[in-house]
Amino acid sequence: MRSKEALSHYDIGITKFDDEHREILALVNQFIECANDHDRASHAAAVMAAIQEHTDAEEAFMREIHFPYLDPHIDEHTRIAVDLTNFLQIGVELSSLILRLKLVSDIETVILSHNDDYDRQYAEFFHRCKHDSSTK
Ligand SMILES: [Fe+2]
Ligand SMILES: [Fe+2]
Repeated sequence: MRSKEALSHYDIGITKFDDEHREILALVNQFIECANDHDRASHAAAVMAAIQEHTDAEEAFMREIHFPYLDPHIDEHTRIAVDLTNFLQIGVELSSLILRLKLVSDIETVILSHNDDYDRQYAEFFHRCKHDSSTK
């Protein structure tokens, strides 16, 4: 699990989405503590529901601000949803705490890489547009 300071490096400067990123990562981390496969299965479903809700909100926001690279971002949401579903399905079967720690760290890496490589782009576009309209 990354520290608060380490996570702040991934902030994109839009509070709603930064908060959602942190909530998703906290939820992913709770997966480590799920003691049996039944709990892990229901927690995995909750994680994927939170991710789906978040990516839907991001896509709506990108449409609203007319972000020009919406399609590649949606493709990437689709791709990581498959990866994350696969990771979590593996995790449901993992009774070893050590292996779940490793898996959660891999899931965090997928999510944080997406924040850095993709989410930062629409945030920068949004901030630039806001800045341009305030200086006109
Ligand atoms: Fe995001
Ligand atoms: Fe995204």
